[in-house]
Parts: sequence; C-alpha cells; structure tokens
Amino acid sequence: MRSIVCEQPNKFNLVHIENPLQKQGEAIVSIRRVGICGTDLHAYKGNQPFFSYPRVLGHELAGVIEWVGGNPDGLKKGDQVTVIPYMACGECIACRKGKTNCCSQMKVLGVHIDGGMSEKISIPYEYLIKTEGLSLDESVVVEPLSIGAHAVKRASILKGEFVLVIGAGPIGLGIMTFAQQEGAKVIAMDINSKRLEFCRQWANVNYTVNASGTPMEAITTITGGDLPTIVFDATGNRKSMEEAFRYPANGGKLVFAGLVRSDIAFFNPDFHAKELTLMGSRNATREDFVHVLNSIKSGSIDVNAYITHRSSFDQMIGQYEEWLKPETGVIKAVVEL
Ligand SMILES: NC(=O)c1ccc[n+]([C@@H]2O[C@H](COP(=O)([O-])OP(=O)(O)OC[C@H]3O[C@@H](n4cnc5c(N)ncnc54)[C@H](O)[C@@H]3O)[C@@H](O)[C@H]2O)c1
Ligand SMILES: [Zn+2]
Ligand SMILES: [Zn+2]
Repeated sequence: MRSIVCEQPNKFNLVHIENPLQKQGEAIVSIRRVGICGTDLHAYKGNQPFFSYPRVLGHELAGVIEWVGGNPDGLKKGDQVTVIPYMACGECIACRKGKTNCCSQMKVLGVHIDGGMSEKISIPYEYLIKTEGLSLDESVVVEPLSIGAHAVKRASILKGEFVLVIGAGPIGLGIMTFAQQEGAKVIAMDINSKRLEFCRQWANVNYTVNASGTPMEAITTITGGDLPTIVFDATGNRKSMEEAFRYPANGGKLVFAGLVRSDIAFFNPDFHAKELTLMGSRNATREDFVHVLNSIKSGSIDVNAYITHRSSFDQMIGQYEEWLKPETGVIKAVVEL
C-alpha cells in the first residue's frame, strides 16, 4: 500500500509498505480523508521540538472499516468511521477520572506514533466512532471541531454571556460555533481581517474586533463596560496569551485552547483582584466527538465552507508548501484517497 512519510523536516516521501496485519482488538480502516492541521505543518517545518522522524503524519481521519475481528461495539466491515487519535493508557490518574484527553502517557496518532497518511491503518477499535449519516468530508472534521467543543465544555458557558474568542483559525472557529450553541454572545478577535470576515459568515458571529487596533476599547464598548465573562485564547501566540489576562470581567474565566512552547507571564495583583479562573484545554473526549457529530448531523455546521483546500493523495506532497502560506486563505486542507 502507499504511505506518505515525513522523513525529516521539509521532506515527504511517497513509499510502498506492507499492508497492516490483522490484530486482535484492532480494526483495519481504509483511509478516505486526512485533514491537515497546524500540528502537521509544524512537524513538517521541523518546529515541533519533541517530534521524531521519520513519522507518518495524519491524526484527522475518516475512512471505512475493511476488517475487524468479531463484531465489537457493533462495528463491522463497510462501516464509515472517524478516529479518536489520542491513545490513552486507561490507568493513569487522568484516565481513571475519565479525562483520557489528558492522559499522562498519551500517544497521539501522527505525532508520537505513526498516523493515517496511508491507504490503510490498523487502530484499536475503541478509538473508532461510526459516522453513519455523515459524508466523508463531515467525518474528517469531527476531530478538529471537537477541540473547540471540548474547550467550550470546560468553560461551562451560561446563556447570554459575552464570550471573547481570540484567534480565528480552525480551532477558534470551532469554539465560536459551540459557544453560540450554548447561547453565548460571541466576540471574535484576530489580527487577520479576512479571517474575521469568515467568522461573521461561517460562525454567524455578530461582533468582530481587530486585535491590531484598540481591542480593549472595542471590547469594553461591545459589552457595555462589563467585559466578557469568558475569554478563550486560540492563537498559539505568547503575546496574545499574556494580553488575554486583561480581557475577562471580574470573576471571569480565561481558557487557553491554544498552546505555545514558552513561559506565560501575568501581573498577579490583576489576576487576584479579578479572581480569575485560568484553564487549559487539551484534545477532546469521546463525548465531545459525539456532540460534534450530532451537531453536524443536525445541519448547524457548514463543513463545505470550513474545508477550503483539497488534494489527492498523490498530489499532496506538491501542494503542502502552499498550505503553509496564510495568504492562500487556508482554513482546513483535506487529502482525499
Ligand atoms: N487544545 C488542543 O488540544 C489543541 C489542538 C490543536 C491545536 N491547538 C492549538 O490551538 C492553536 C490554534 O490552532 P489553529 O490551527 O486554529 O491555528 P491558526 O494559526 O490557524 O490560527 C491562529 C489564529 O490566531 C491569530 N493570531 C495570531 N496572533 C494573534 C494576536 N496577537 N492577536 C489576535 N489573533 C492572533 C492568527 O491570525 C490566526 O488566525 C494553536 O496554538 C494550536 O497549537 C490546540
Ligand atoms: Zn489537528
Ligand atoms: Zn492515562
């Protein structure tokens, strides 16, 4: 079968390898869609410090079951599935508390172990979710949207709350959508005006703020002087994450859905005076995946517009460099098999 391997930074190879073996407890999935995200782009560029090469990328996956031993969880040959790519140990303190999304021994497909940028992959069947009634395109975006859904669940939004989402990439857009579903009044903030326009159209966001202007004034005006009670940062930008401490209202919450490999500094007296709650948000759980799947099924998410770029498996290597350029307007690129 064909597989695309990231041999070293800036170098992919299309190789032919053996088909996966039939293993007890696993299913062989014939891959039909692979979504590309920031993690893949950083891995390719060599700025994922703990990444080792060679590695088969691909953690946003949709496909069809080709073989499964027995009939576990009602799964059978021919079922269309998406994949939960976070392999959890099931035994650590986080797993024992049901927080498999932040397992202390976490192995993410396509990051710590080989992912699904191949014609077939063998996966323990407990990481598969049937996506009956969804298209393959809809199935492949369940994972990236689940990141946003999980962050929103962490924040426990109340109806009518002003929620500020900083960073309008694929992750921030998911947060905006699911926050609106909870009845929040969402304010989208970014430095990229094209992306802010996309927030208005795609996520029906009523308020947008350009962070390069005078954001504090704009946010104060929109919220009638109160400031937002919940702020999400999904930029992955240290400066933005530090600035983000200024925006929550007194008694509010700040949720870091984005991450940056550096220290974050804040002025403690302000944090104390506001009695802020600071939260991390990592990956997503099966419940988040099911929530997203049902939202897509209900027709409330426009997956067609979220997928902005496509390529065939054979042409992916040639296209990849283009997807690294923000000026191409890429939100989500998807590889088709
Ligand atoms: N929680 C998780 O488990 C998880 C999963 C995947 C990705 N992530 C992280 O989420 C973050 C966002 O991912 P993405 O794929 O949407 O990224 P992206 O780069 O496509 O989007 C980030 C957005 O932030 C904007 N931005 C950058 N600096 C800014 C600033 N100073 N002020 C306002 N906006 C600014 C950019 O213009 C861009 O639109 C990244 O840090 C990524 O690593 C987290
Ligand atoms: Zn991803
Ligand atoms: Zn664990």
